[in-house]
Amino acid sequence: MFHQSLTRDAATVSFSDIAGAFSYALDLTEGQPPGHSIRCCYIAGRVAERMGVTGARLGHVHYTALLKDLGCSSNAARIAELYLADDRAFKQRWKTVPARLPSTLRFVFRETGRAATLGRRIGAVAHILRHGDAVAQEMIVARCTRGSAIARTLRRDEEVAHGIYHLDEHWNGSGRPDGLTGEAVPLESRLALLAQVADVFHQAGGRDAAAAEVERRAGQWLDPAAAAVFATLAREVGFWRDLESPLIDALVAARAPAEEQVVDEDCLDAITAAFGQVIDAKSPYTAGHSVRVADYAEGIGQRLDLTAARLRQLRRAAALHDIGKLGVSSAVLEKPGSLDEAEWVQMREHAAHTARILGRVGVLGDLADLAAAHHEKLDGTGYPLGLDDRTIRRETRIITVCDFYDALTADRPYRAALPVEQALAIMAGEIGRAVDADCFAALRAHVQTA
Ligand SMILES: [Fe+2]
Ligand SMILES: [Fe+2]
Repeated sequence: MFHQSLTRDAATVSFSDIAGAFSYALDLTEGQPPGHSIRCCYIAGRVAERMGVTGARLGHVHYTALLKDLGCSSNAARIAELYLADDRAFKQRWKTVPARLPSTLRFVFRETGRAATLGRRIGAVAHILRHGDAVAQEMIVARCTRGSAIARTLRRDEEVAHGIYHLDEHWNGSGRPDGLTGEAVPLESRLALLAQVADVFHQAGGRDAAAAEVERRAGQWLDPAAAAVFATLAREVGFWRDLESPLIDALVAARAPAEEQVVDEDCLDAITAAFGQVIDAKSPYTAGHSVRVADYAEGIGQRLDLTAARLRQLRRAAALHDIGKLGVSSAVLEKPGSLDEAEWVQMREHAAHTARILGRVGVLGDLADLAAAHHEKLDGTGYPLGLDDRTIRRETRIITVCDFYDALTADRPYRAALPVEQALAIMAGEIGRAVDADCFAALRAHVQTA
């Protein structure tokens, strides 16, 4: 039943539509205003077209700009650790810092350890000043390596993976990871970076601020020819009207490469796997969590005789259940001690974020509901909606027990992994509250015979 409706809907949806919807999760990770990736895609595409770029190359620019932040979650935990900072706010503010050394230093002094004790703060700043270069290189290498690998999981062309890898290269050679200069920087990367600068400053300070910043960085960070084309576009009212339109998603979808108008089931699986990797890269303590939960869920679903179509949907929902954690600060996710009230509110918000992110992607059917309910409880005390035994669906119950089991049997910031039997005993005590009896029996059978 689901399979049929998915196939019908999918025929009208392009890969770009789905990637565009998921790109909102990347914006959340970067602390950017919603729609940042979509707008960057629009800006880069318009500049490319004006520069005479056509055909497949235009498609490469499209996907490089749309997916430029695929690796962004990989440095979140490191930023929180090094700068004692909320990674999302830190990244957002960093992008508005002028490209000059005094500004960078001021930023480091101001942002590092804002909420930490003076002693810890001084220690952190000293560490950054001593190792700043190596730290920046390490974080950018992690980000671009991860981003290009995930682009390959998404089955994008090598030019897109390459474009994402070199996103942080600068025209004058001052960028990373390889310090490429001028036209040695892939065109896709040059345009994605220009679009990023333009959108960040447009969102923060308006049209004139965006135009001024691109002009200021021309010949330094940015390709001067592309910056000159942007300056022409920036004098056209229609360009800004499109960019500020509530219909920007549709405008960008209409610009997607024409040959990719059909999304099939395998493609949806590839997107699921890719974003599972984005989620798992966010936190070293939950690395592999999404994949393991998906594996357990599939095993339990088979034991409970779910149909092939439901199993496929279950696996996707399980892999993406924590996608909302991309909107939670790593300072909270990685905190070794117990969370205070405000931090708990932020942590619990991840389930609602999951609903919002997956809810954007209509073709994914009921995936958003199945995934976002994984912290609901049979006795009605869960979140975000307080659903209960009457309304929590079987797929969700399966995801919940798998999530619980993996949380107990993997290392956490506040405790080491528990042995299997101890984890199962704890879960048995929750039957009828957080844990469904049938799903638990299937899980126990699954892990004890594995
Ligand atoms: Fe969760
Ligand atoms: Fe989880």
